[in-house]
Amino acid sequence: MAISKKMQELSQRSSWIRRMFEEGAKLKALYGPENVCDFSLGNPDVPPPPEFYTVLEQLALERTPGRHGYMSNAGFPEVREAVARRIAAEQGKLVSRDDVLMTCGAAGGLNVVLKAILDPGDEVIVLSPYFVEYHFYIDNHGGIPVVVPTAADFTLDLAAIAKALTPRTKAIIINSPNNPTGRIYSRDSLVGLAETLAAAGKRFSTTIFLISDEPYRKIVYDNNSVPAVFELYAESLVVSSHSKDLSLPGERIGYIAVHPEIAYKDQLLAAMTLANRILGFVNAPALMQRLVGRLSGAVVDNRIYADRRDLLCRILLEIGYEFTPPQGAFYIFPKSPITDDAEFVNLLLENRILAVPGRGFGAPGYFRLAFCVDEKVIERSATGFRAAFNKAGKS
Ligand SMILES: Cc1ncc(COP(=O)(O)O)c(C=O)c1O
Repeated sequence: MAISKKMQELSQRSSWIRRMFEEGAKLKALYGPENVCDFSLGNPDVPPPPEFYTVLEQLALERTPGRHGYMSNAGFPEVREAVARRIAAEQGKLVSRDDVLMTCGAAGGLNVVLKAILDPGDEVIVLSPYFVEYHFYIDNHGGIPVVVPTAADFTLDLAAIAKALTPRTKAIIINSPNNPTGRIYSRDSLVGLAETLAAAGKRFSTTIFLISDEPYRKIVYDNNSVPAVFELYAESLVVSSHSKDLSLPGERIGYIAVHPEIAYKDQLLAAMTLANRILGFVNAPALMQRLVGRLSGAVVDNRIYADRRDLLCRILLEIGYEFTPPQGAFYIFPKSPITDDAEFVNLLLENRILAVPGRGFGAPGYFRLAFCVDEKVIERSATGFRAAFNKAGKS
């Protein structure tokens, strides 16, 4: 085999997502895409806000020489300035442009942070159910993921986190609103987390970074809001992107912001800037940097997602599924009516519904539905969800 043993092993581990993709392609070829209800992918279908197109058109007309050249690996200073102003307002701290680094999406940002902080064998805590890519990103930089389950309602289990902290713990990644559960961590629980990390850091004489992965910060329901980690813990970094709040995942535009009083700030920012370069990202895309720099706080129309969430929750509840209604993001994570979530996802497949088993997120016994699909798809899915539920009841 020409590819490395490591990549062979990693391909095996990512097989759930791949399998659903392949099954979906087969079903769509057989019955036509309009007859398959595909809830498998978190690819936003709500259009970017109108301001996006206005600014994009303006930028397309600008012909100043050098506009498409390289810039500092951290990004354009004026864009970092604009992003810093927004983060300062969000996080309640005086964030300056020197605390911000533009990245190729949140995925690029997470890799940059991990490359900058990890030595081989360092541990990074991830909370299950988790965004599966964290494992790969941590492994990319020689780290070891340490999985800590959340509580039954997907809130933080502080006692379990405290138990998992060791002298090798370099960071914890949290994601709120959460993929796949839609859970937003409360301010109180984040205060508890900050205290737990600070106490362990003191005990071990180490710095434990809190990495807050926030691409869904602005996709929230019922007047919920996402608490600011910068107000609670100095050793924190926010990693985010406009993949979801502007529906631009293909444009790969994101950023990292560090707490203005974070330990080793200068070294950390220099290391992240170098990491952006040597990981081969070099810099975030120039056109998209300018674009998000000029868009002041525009967001996709959240009401569309809110209506879909309400519709899907109503359908699932009426049938008898058990779930915690999502507070944000566009995922719902119901309990599988049978113990074997993969078997249940197969029952859904028989009914032309694509979902991802919870075991793909480190949480067997559940399944994930991404409701970034047309409302008509959700309406059409009711029959299939009912048929699969009833069949599960008989198995
Ligand atoms: C929790 C979480 N983090 C990070 C990412 C990566 O986002 P981006 O497309 O901005 O790299 C995603 C994408 O789905 C995600 O769900």
